[in-house]
Amino acid sequence: MSRTSRLTANRLTLAYEDRTIVDQLDLEIPDGRVTVIIGPNACGKSTLLRALGRLLRPQGGAVLLDGTELARIPSRQIARAIGLLPQTPVPPEGITVADLVSRGRHPHQKWWQQWTEADEKAIGEAMERTGTAELADRPVDELSGGQRQRAWIAMALAQDTEILLLDEPTTYLDIAHQVEVLDLVRQLNRERGRTVVAVLHDLNQAARYADHLIAMKAGRIVAQGPPADIVTADLVHEVFGLASVVVPDPVTGDPLVVPSRPWQPPSEPGTATPRATERDAAPAGQA
Ligand SMILES: Nc1ncnc2c1ncn2[C@@H]1O[C@H](COP(=O)(O)OP(=O)(O)OP(=O)(O)O)[C@@H](O)[C@H]1O
Ligand SMILES: [Mg+2]
Repeated sequence: MSRTSRLTANRLTLAYEDRTIVDQLDLEIPDGRVTVIIGPNACGKSTLLRALGRLLRPQGGAVLLDGTELARIPSRQIARAIGLLPQTPVPPEGITVADLVSRGRHPHQKWWQQWTEADEKAIGEAMERTGTAELADRPVDELSGGQRQRAWIAMALAQDTEILLLDEPTTYLDIAHQVEVLDLVRQLNRERGRTVVAVLHDLNQAARYADHLIAMKAGRIVAQGPPADIVTADLVHEVFGLASVVVPDPVTGDPLVVPSRPWQPPSEPGTATPRATERDAAPAGQA
């Protein structure tokens, strides 16, 4: 990869007790790009992301930030460089949205100066951008799933790190809020040069928003590169075991994955009538 990479993994092995999930993985996260990780449930996406954010200690190999092992870097220093939104974060009991978001500023605060204008500005902006300002005084555990997700995103934004790791940031969000969050991520990337790594399940959103796409299966990287280069029906079949066709997205031209036909009841024995969708799909005049 020609681009530089602040965040890399070197023969990274990740395991829970004696169950190895990721085995000797090498990885370079391109700086100033949006990287999206896709892959089936339980293939190790969250495990990898947690290791990149030092929430999980490698069993072998290392994650390096600017060439230094994460394990050798003080936590505050890491927290000023890397923000991580886990897949299922747990809020402290009774915490309000405003307090949750302001926790994102902790790594920046000094004991002799706990609250600065920069903190104020980062928090206000994060809440504004995520539409959580009007929820400021609400307890997080009383919010809807989507409101809560946006509060967590606001906290990650308030942390204002150069590298942002987001594990399924669009979960629980309706389609408009999904697009809003992904557009926000892209805006942070394009305008401020932030490096983003996001896990997404929606392949079409992944293809739209990723500069660099990583397809994982069973803890390994099956393919990586620009979506236009790697997203094919063969890849979708290899990674997800799903039959599909890949066509150009009518709006952006990016690859659009369309799964093959939905299940249909088998036609009655002895009847030659074509199934509804096949009939509908037949060229005009042949029905
Ligand atoms: N804390 C844990 N202790 C033990 N095993 C775990 C733990 N967390 C995850 N695993 C296991 O590790 C494997 C990878 O899990 P991981 O959460 O990384 O998958 P994922 O790719 O993020 O899946 P999903 O798409 O469902 O979020 C799974 O088999 C899971 O059961
Ligand atoms: Mg996960």
